[in-house]
Amino acid sequence: MLPQYDWLGGWYDALDYPWERQRAPLRRALVHGVRGTVMEWGVGTGRNLPYYHASVRVTGIDASAAMLRRAAARARNARCTVALRQGDITSLPLPEDDAFDWLVASFVCCVLPDAALVRALAQVPKVLKPEGTFRFLEMGYAHNARRRCRQARGAWWARALYGVRLERDTVAFLSRTRGLRIVAVRPLDADGIYRLIEGVRTA
Ligand SMILES: C[S@@+](CC[C@H](N)C(=O)[O-])C[C@H]1O[C@@H](n2cnc3c(N)ncnc32)[C@H](O)[C@@H]1O
Repeated sequence: MLPQYDWLGGWYDALDYPWERQRAPLRRALVHGVRGTVMEWGVGTGRNLPYYHASVRVTGIDASAAMLRRAAARARNARCTVALRQGDITSLPLPEDDAFDWLVASFVCCVLPDAALVRALAQVPKVLKPEGTFRFLEMGYAHNARRRCRQARGAWWARALYGVRLERDTVAFLSRTRGLRIVAVRPLDADGIYRLIEGVRTA
């Protein structure tokens, strides 16, 4: 767990405001077509909750009580059914295995330290039903050299504040995880900063 999110919880939405204004289409793309039972990792302040289809049942997990307090307000206003739980996604005490049709997360794999990401991804086949689907919204360095330079100048700040590792290759981590198969990696912007990574449980 990243301790800074405990004090960030009260400030997260305000600090993220300049970026969040552009992120609605990304969040819509993340939950597009998602139905049934969903576990959302690192639900944070509940930014994705307004976009889920009304029929969806979301279990939102986050390690930070402060982030979850903000998420609770969004959960009350969401069309979908939401249950919020405080927990560590690297060692989930699951009430039942194979419970979820989908596992969804935004900007979570890119903030976890390497060893924590390996442990978290190993949970995915345990969380999903057979042939259940995972979909991650991630950010990283742009393909475009000028954008990349600009990002590199602010990377220390993003790392210190949010734990974001722009250099993180989540696809490579997923490829090494047993019981999962990546089916699509889709850039969501022209510079390739934001991407959706989708796959299925195979075992
Ligand atoms: C960058 S924020 C993203 C929040 C939200 N998904 C969004 O799109 O705005 C990362 C979130 O992951 C949570 N987190 C980090 N490590 C975690 C862990 N090991 N278990 C559960 N949540 C964790 C943090 O508390 C934080 O809310």
